Amino acid sequence: MSLTTRPLSPALGVEVLELDVSEPLDGAVRDDILDAFYENVALLFRGQSLTVEQQNRFTTTFGDIGKRTIGPRLRKSADDIYTTPVMVVSNIRENGKPLAGSSANGDREMGFHQDTAFHEIPDHVTILYGIEVSAHGGHTLLTNQYAAYDNIPADLKTKLEGCEVLQVYDYQRHTVDADIDLSGARYYVQPIFITHPVTGRRALYVNRMMSVRIEGMERGESDAILSDLFDIAEDPRFRYEHVWEVGDLLMWDNFCSIHARTFYPDVERRLLRRTTVAGKERLRA
Ligand SMILES: [Fe+2]
Repeated sequence: MSLTTRPLSPALGVEVLELDVSEPLDGAVRDDILDAFYENVALLFRGQSLTVEQQNRFTTTFGDIGKRTIGPRLRKSADDIYTTPVMVVSNIRENGKPLAGSSANGDREMGFHQDTAFHEIPDHVTILYGIEVSAHGGHTLLTNQYAAYDNIPADLKTKLEGCEVLQVYDYQRHTVDADIDLSGARYYVQPIFITHPVTGRRALYVNRMMSVRIEGMERGESDAILSDLFDIAEDPRFRYEHVWEVGDLLMWDNFCSIHARTFYPDVERRLLRRTTVAGKERLRA
């Protein structure tokens, strides 16, 4: 092991010390980073100074860069897509307008979710780089979904084995339930438990923001089970809370974690730069 690390929390994550990720990584370091990432679900590198190009290069350590897609409401044609994979996560307005490349929801508290769970092939990894950070709140919460899976009661696990869940996202509405109108929303049916494509470990794959109903199950039962699963998924015992500093590069595995953002006052400026690593294939149970 060529890395110096220290744990971020008992639940997940390690901080990698004394490594400048703006430079190309040599083979042994790269292998150790991958091992540390898959073992610990999340990595933190502090004190970084990264251009967009350097962040993109670092992102490709883990696979192909994920593309940003446009939801059907805003899409002008079928092949309309953002021209850059980089997303700006910020509340900053210039002349009354969000910064170029901003996400639609960079300026408020955000509930737990996996990124792009509503895509046929969801993003595997999310990488956030802190450029301006809020002094109060705006923390990133990460919760370990291997641990969540292990914590599901055995009878419920048996009952749900092989089940699928409808994942829906409509940023204009945000609150989703089983009655949601799917026109204008993005959605896909995913396994409720997935087998991680790299580690082979099983993880719970639901979230309160996007998971609407368990396929083939009566509405009342589906609502009740999902409510229980959301509580298990968000269990504070499996959680790490990241307090941002300028220069932090925080990355997590969307296939075995969910994340959220805590409230922060709108008078504060917050600016993070996000890239993702694309998934390779559909998620499997
Ligand atoms: Fe997210």
